[in-house]
Amino acid sequence: SQVYLNGAFMAPQDAHISPLDRGFLFADGIYEVIPAYNGVLFRFEEHLVRLERSLAETAIANPHSRDQWRQLCEQLIQRNGGGNLSIYLQVTRGATEKRDHAFPNPPVPPTVFMMTGNIAVPAADSPDTATGSKAITLDDIRWARCDIKSVSLLPNSLLRQQAVAAGASEAILLRDGFVTEGSASNVFIVAESTVITPPKSHAILGGITRDLVVELCHRHHIPVEEREITESQLRQADEIWVTSSTREIVPIIQLNNSAVGIGTPGPVWKTVARHYVSFKR
Ligand code: PDD
Repeated sequence: SQVYLNGAFMAPQDAHISPLDRGFLFADGIYEVIPAYNGVLFRFEEHLVRLERSLAETAIANPHSRDQWRQLCEQLIQRNGGGNLSIYLQVTRGATEKRDHAFPNPPVPPTVFMMTGNIAVPAADSPDTATGSKAITLDDIRWARCDIKSVSLLPNSLLRQQAVAAGASEAILLRDGFVTEGSASNVFIVAESTVITPPKSHAILGGITRDLVVELCHRHHIPVEEREITESQLRQADEIWVTSSTREIVPIIQLNNSAVGIGTPGPVWKTVARHYVSFKR
């Protein structure tokens, strides 16, 4: 496999960065995860817009134009054999000479790193045989700017690990009694035949998959609302789903060891999963 670092493609073992990189010292960087199906980037514009926003919000210089980003991503896919891949793309504030919390002055060039990962076959690809996943609820211990796709993922990592240790695949996070999102996903519920997901705010990442699911519901006249979800609404939901670029739409069949609805992937999930899969093709 090949990765990209600061202007060149290379084998992963040849990619080296300085321990004085601010990404290493301060987790001072942002990232994107972009899927490609059959070698073709999916929702690339949307991911680029979010990348630009993360860079702007953190005042990290954007080293590339949109065309350049696209070319780099396409080359990386080609060099890794095409097919179904995800691109991990990270930009940090760069390598400094001394450890100082304030930004380097004059600025140093940002560090750009990209690699590919495999995409597991998503549950949405086989709505009739999908078995669903388990989730647990945990307190959202993260900072107040979760809308920035920052590489400072220690809380997300601790939360996900707690879920895995409890035999679940995702942690659904609660802040002041309201659902925010998953440790690496957005959350949807179905209640009274309506699809509900929390509104975008500083408390959640504006997921590209989330936006597409909302769009597909509108397009197919499935009632959908972007509004707050309380803890008790989550517990009483007929269906719970989590969404992300690498896992698409995953039905949650158990929450804190209690069945969600009748304990199998629900009918609304199956319908939306089918729409998602046809949109992908
Ligand atoms: N995570 N919320 C959080 C905290 C996330 O980390 C992610 C994605 C999402 C879903 O966003 P999208 O649909 O744009 O992938 C929501 C990526 C996949 C990751 O960290 O690997």
